[in-house]
Amino acid sequence: MHKTTTLWHDRFKQQLQWTKNTRDFIYRKLNFSNYTSFLELGCGTGALLEEVATRFISSHQHLGKNKMLAGIDHNTEFIDQSRLLMKEIAPGVEIKVADATSIPYPEGTFEVVYCHYFLMWNEDQKRARVVQEAKRVLKTGGWFVCFAEPDYLGWILEPETKLREFLMHSLMVSGGDLSSGRKLVRDLAGFKDVVIDCCSQPWTGATLQQTFATEWNFYENLLADKEEMVEALVELKQQDLDATTRGIKLSFLPVFYGYGRK
Ligand SMILES: C[S@@+](CC[C@H](N)C(=O)[O-])C[C@H]1O[C@@H](n2cnc3c(N)ncnc32)[C@H](O)[C@@H]1O
Repeated sequence: MHKTTTLWHDRFKQQLQWTKNTRDFIYRKLNFSNYTSFLELGCGTGALLEEVATRFISSHQHLGKNKMLAGIDHNTEFIDQSRLLMKEIAPGVEIKVADATSIPYPEGTFEVVYCHYFLMWNEDQKRARVVQEAKRVLKTGGWFVCFAEPDYLGWILEPETKLREFLMHSLMVSGGDLSSGRKLVRDLAGFKDVVIDCCSQPWTGATLQQTFATEWNFYENLLADKEEMVEALVELKQQDLDATTRGIKLSFLPVFYGYGRK
């Protein structure tokens, strides 16, 4: 696997840890085990496909007969990785390179269309088109589920450091929407039985200390070739370490979830 793809795969797995409780709650609430056809928009390297395949498509033989799981993403390297992963655990999963503004499935194909940290990468107009497409490929009564959309404009960071500026800047230059979370209310306006909520992770000093190395490993690897950032990163890491070890760091990022029925 390409080094950057491995880095992203590890990151996506880490993000899944952050939202595990929310997913478990939604899986139960919407009775995911009752459904037989699922589509993930922006499936990336397959981290969440793996979970859905193992939890809800329990027997591989079912795939293609009475159970269907599909994933699309416009990043071909991520799709290659998804295919490799699925080949091992659930070979019948359909994985396609496609843009979610034009989903390569007919109307009314799926009972559940879901996404995770995904809408934030689509600017408003594109996002509206994606949601329209999600609705088109859903069966009547099927669920559109957005497991996690962060809202960086609502981020509480204590003590205030340049980490905010640094992260927001890197998200923005990569096309991320800093207020994605709150926009779920618009995305889901055309659906029925809509529920939207916002959560974060419980604060514990111990968790922050445990995740410090993973977080910084990710930033440093990602920015390894950006020489102009090295000095700033060293300073920022030291500030972050001080606050974390003194037990005075609070990082509270609102992450929204929402779902609605066609
Ligand atoms: C943060 S990743 C999340 C990956 C996966 N959902 C997970 O949680 O492991 C977002 C993914 O969405 C994909 N993506 C963003 N906009 C897209 C679009 N319009 N069509 C297809 N893929 C898209 C990106 O290529 C990336 O793989």
